[in-house]
Amino acid sequence: MADPVFFSDADFELYKALIYRESGITFTTTNRSILESRLKEQLRTLGLNSVKSHYARISTNKEDLKSFLDSITTNLTRFFRNQAHFDALEHYVVPELMKIKQGNNIIRIWSAGCSTGEEPYTIAMLLSEILPPPWKYEILASDISLKCLMTAKEGFYADSRIVGVPDNYLKKYFDKVDGGYKVHADLMSRIRFDYHNLANDSGQRNLDLVFCRNVIIYFDETAQTAVINRFWDSMAGKSFLFIGHSESLFGMKTKFDFVKTEWATFYRKNL
Ligand SMILES: C[S@@+](CC[C@H](N)C(=O)[O-])C[C@H]1O[C@@H](n2cnc3c(N)ncnc32)[C@H](O)[C@@H]1O
Repeated sequence: MADPVFFSDADFELYKALIYRESGITFTTTNRSILESRLKEQLRTLGLNSVKSHYARISTNKEDLKSFLDSITTNLTRFFRNQAHFDALEHYVVPELMKIKQGNNIIRIWSAGCSTGEEPYTIAMLLSEILPPPWKYEILASDISLKCLMTAKEGFYADSRIVGVPDNYLKKYFDKVDGGYKVHADLMSRIRFDYHNLANDSGQRNLDLVFCRNVIIYFDETAQTAVINRFWDSMAGKSFLFIGHSESLFGMKTKFDFVKTEWATFYRKNL
């Protein structure tokens, strides 16, 4: 039972509505305790003694709101997370895109909800390996968490976080530094890291490939549908969408086709 003095049911409803409105992230009674513990941390950091003053602050100050939203995100990620997706990318999606994009040899990718960067760096390493010249790629990687984006841009990963990166990739794309590994500047330069809240339109158009894995799981169905439809608008006529393996567009009103390959399942825009 929540401490009524710290965080009443009415407070919970207020926060829940604000978080949903601002980010699509959905809190329910099941994960209320996560919100409470993050809020306690925020109050301590900001030196505030009530959620009322905190709520007033994030309602009136955009920067405080951003850092609050940052604090409630779940940022778990890792290199080569769900290898099956990268197998499908290598053996199905990239060959398809090379057929589709005759005469235009740049593959444009968005890693939406990139967390600390492991996902876009994985995509970059793989594409660097498999794309023959004159093919090129460019990656936009975005997140709502400024803290995560800072880590991603720095490109430093402690030894424990490098697990899953094959040795040959480690040698080719990282430098060994004290306590971990640093991504080569060259690989980094292929990725543009940017703040973007998926509750808004990104303005992106004509993308060939979107990765949005393990992000919409935190949204309710209305917010999920809105995000997925915005992806549709940002993608080229023939393009591909990967979502997390525990996520699905099943039952959702979208125009994407479901694709099942021997490696993994994903979605396709096929106009
Ligand atoms: C669990 S991580 C997934 C990271 C990576 N895609 C993966 O699958 O390993 C989810 C990320 O989504 C981000 N996120 C959550 N809501 C968001 C929103 N409304 N806009 C942009 N990013 C969001 C979080 O900050 C977090 O870094």
